[in-house]
Amino acid sequence: MTETRIPLAGVIGSPIAHSRSPQLHRHWLGTYGIRGFYIPMDVTRDNLERVVRSLPLMGFVGVNVTVPHKEDAMDIADKITDRATLIGATNTLVFREDGTIHADNTDGYGFLENLRNGAPTWDPQAGPAVVLGAGGAARAVIAALSDAGVREIILTNRTRARAERLRDDFGQRVRVVDWVQAGNVLEDAALVVNTTSLGMSGQPDLRVPLDGLQKGTVVTDLVYSPLRTRLLTVAEQAGCITVDGLGMLLHQAVPAFERWFGHRPTVDEATREAALR
Ligand code: ATR
Repeated sequence: MTETRIPLAGVIGSPIAHSRSPQLHRHWLGTYGIRGFYIPMDVTRDNLERVVRSLPLMGFVGVNVTVPHKEDAMDIADKITDRATLIGATNTLVFREDGTIHADNTDGYGFLENLRNGAPTWDPQAGPAVVLGAGGAARAVIAALSDAGVREIILTNRTRARAERLRDDFGQRVRVVDWVQAGNVLEDAALVVNTTSLGMSGQPDLRVPLDGLQKGTVVTDLVYSPLRTRLLTVAEQAGCITVDGLGMLLHQAVPAFERWFGHRPTVDEATREAALR
């Protein structure tokens, strides 16, 4: 008698206790009555490759990858999707039955889905997108915005050289302005995205002058703890359309869940509540 294996998935990072992914995936497993497990795993850099290679042997169908392994995990993969290559990082590994490991990056997808759901009237061609920050998250956001057809991306970062590196990778669509000038470019923006960690609980607030924000501009923050950051609160008062960052986390998980567990999950209010639990 052959017994079907119960699929296992999880998330690897360090630290990992704060990750919302286990609540999220377990919520979907329960909602759809799927027999499966999703496990958070604290993995050090030294052990990354050994752990990843042993997971398929134990019945894992894939894992999410988070800080600080998003770049290093690329080296272990046998195949890397174009979008993960462009971003230079992976957040999703799929362990295939033929023994190969495929790396994808769904962060940009999650970002766009969240934006399209939260601000359905946003038109990528309506005007420039201002991106604050030039780290790994900004890379995924810029890739997604380019894909969506945004013609001009104004990028600003405390460390200008990092923004310039991103511009070099993404080409003429990206214009770099000094961090101290960030407040001056908000006026013309159709979209403003905070990709920095500023505003997150325990971090300093984003202190960019926000009085240039115009009514109708779409403003989104990748920070979701707290859900209503100072940026979103001020933007709302200015009549902007605001989209919080939790939806990006939820939507980036959809393609992974579908690949691993064979069911495309829905993101709704119950999903948000489950992720916040
Ligand atoms: P992630 O992968 O989440 O983007 P990261 O690569 O560490 O994380 O990038 C963090 C971003 O937040 C960077 O744009 C960083 O600016 P620098 O490139 O100048 O470091 C930005 N950031 C973090 N703390 C900041 C602060 N106190 N003031 C301004 N920007 C800050």
